[in-house]
Amino acid sequence: MEHAIEMIGITKTFPGVVANDKVTLQVADNEIHALLGENGAGKSTLMSILFGAYNADSGTIRIHGKNVDIKDPNVATELGIGMVHQHFKLVHNYSVTENIVLGMEPRNRFGILNIGQAEKRVAQLSDTYGLQVDPTALVEDITVGAQQRVEILKTLYRNANIIIFDEPTAVLTPQEIDELMQIIRRLKAEGKTIVLITHKLKEIKAVADRCTVLRRGKYIGTVDVEDVSEQQLAEMMVGRAVQFEIEKSPAQIGEVVLSIQNLSVADQNGHVKVRDLSVEVHRGEIVGIAGVDGNGQTELLYGISGLSPVSSGTILLNGEDITHATIRKRIELGLGHIPEDRQKHGLISDFSISENCVLKNYYKAPYSNAYGLLDQTKMAEDAQALIEQFDIRAGQGSRTAAGSLSGGNQQKTIVAREIHLSPHAMLVAQPTRGLDVGAIEYIRQRILAERDKGRAILLISFELDEIMNLCDRIATISKGSIVGIFAQHEVTEREIGMMMAGSKRDGGNG
Ligand SMILES: Nc1ncnc2c1ncn2[C@@H]1O[C@H](COP(=O)(O)OP(=O)(O)OP(=O)(O)O)[C@@H](O)[C@H]1O
Ligand SMILES: [Mg+2]
Repeated sequence: MEHAIEMIGITKTFPGVVANDKVTLQVADNEIHALLGENGAGKSTLMSILFGAYNADSGTIRIHGKNVDIKDPNVATELGIGMVHQHFKLVHNYSVTENIVLGMEPRNRFGILNIGQAEKRVAQLSDTYGLQVDPTALVEDITVGAQQRVEILKTLYRNANIIIFDEPTAVLTPQEIDELMQIIRRLKAEGKTIVLITHKLKEIKAVADRCTVLRRGKYIGTVDVEDVSEQQLAEMMVGRAVQFEIEKSPAQIGEVVLSIQNLSVADQNGHVKVRDLSVEVHRGEIVGIAGVDGNGQTELLYGISGLSPVSSGTILLNGEDITHATIRKRIELGLGHIPEDRQKHGLISDFSISENCVLKNYYKAPYSNAYGLLDQTKMAEDAQALIEQFDIRAGQGSRTAAGSLSGGNQQKTIVAREIHLSPHAMLVAQPTRGLDVGAIEYIRQRILAERDKGRAILLISFELDEIMNLCDRIATISKGSIVGIFAQHEVTEREIGMMMAGSKRDGGNG
């Protein structure tokens, strides 16, 4: 077998953790190779080494059979290696083409930029690979899926023949995921070699030829995807059997905790995104909001949590009007929030895990005394307990900076903090985004346990199976309004999918 990539005996340590421990990765030329492993297993680190963003402590890398020293990303680019990062690195007020050519602008002999020539090449590449973008649009005006296509075009513009994708589907909607799978197949058909990091076993089964599994920094094995089931992949990855469906006891529903009445919320540009929306969440139940991205889900949670002002309507929490209350007041009255955007609203990356765990209540007992002095010991103890319960993999324990955690472990930290606060009502957005299958199982169980403690939970998720699995009632949202609300046992995943696409169904007393 001719190898495009050979990484042999790669070791990389960070303070307190061996992120890669003599790892081997052999990727055949022109294959789609999946890289699978738990949160913190070392996948992003290994690919950052291949891309020259980190240097390994030891080990050998060969590209197309030649020993190479990938000191920095420029060397990687020269070797034909491109990377599509999970958090895109685009300049928002530049056009699509400007972003693609950034750093290698075509200039004439007087040094003048020839953007027309670049646009032509971009149009040609997007044609060949089926990557639809408007070369002249501003990046801030295009969808997340389109931004990702710009990142892919960036690698192609630099003539990459090896393309690394780090969790490309974590931020995409189901429709965009289907499109990306097509694009990846197309890249292979045009002769590219692909490394795909994903936690979604379905995606591995759908597109990958082979899969390499890492666990706690170590190489576990490489398998032909055809020969293994999703269940077997999951077991290789976590070292035990994983439950895909969770057991759920019937809901013990009580009085209304969160009442949203005729709510309207506009986005930053003044466009009305939530229209006259009403929904109630009772003690002891999980209400799910299903919908295609962009139908007001984000703004609904912004409005309820206080991140955005409300234009009209009322929000009651345990009967108290919080429509215009400050964010802190809402938290004090018992409103929790697992936000959609963990980078922006979830964590402070320079702060330690222990500091991040008390972001919402540091100023009170038991974390502050009457003089406002922080009790660091108590903070560290409680954080350590959460690290253990939620299996947060952190090299330096509760002192680890949130920003140095792997993506999935950042998400686990936010979920741990919010569940630990055990608020009366909890807004939960995409709680398992970026988590491995074992962590998903655990987080879903903890959310159910909160419900069984009598909390009222409002859940937003693009994963219909997550909605079907967790929720007692399911509301579908379209253009900022709820078009139907049903008890979970009254509807099928398919019916929900159809309602999301816009067709209404009569009835339902959910
Ligand atoms: N810059 C850094 N500084 C310190 N530790 C780091 C740094 N980058 C990664 N680590 C640590 O290395 C380990 C591997 O992290 P990595 O990001 O490679 O995991 P991953 O497999 O990509 O996980 P996930 O699925 O959650 O993204 C983790 O314990 C992480 O905390
Ligand atoms: Mg990662």
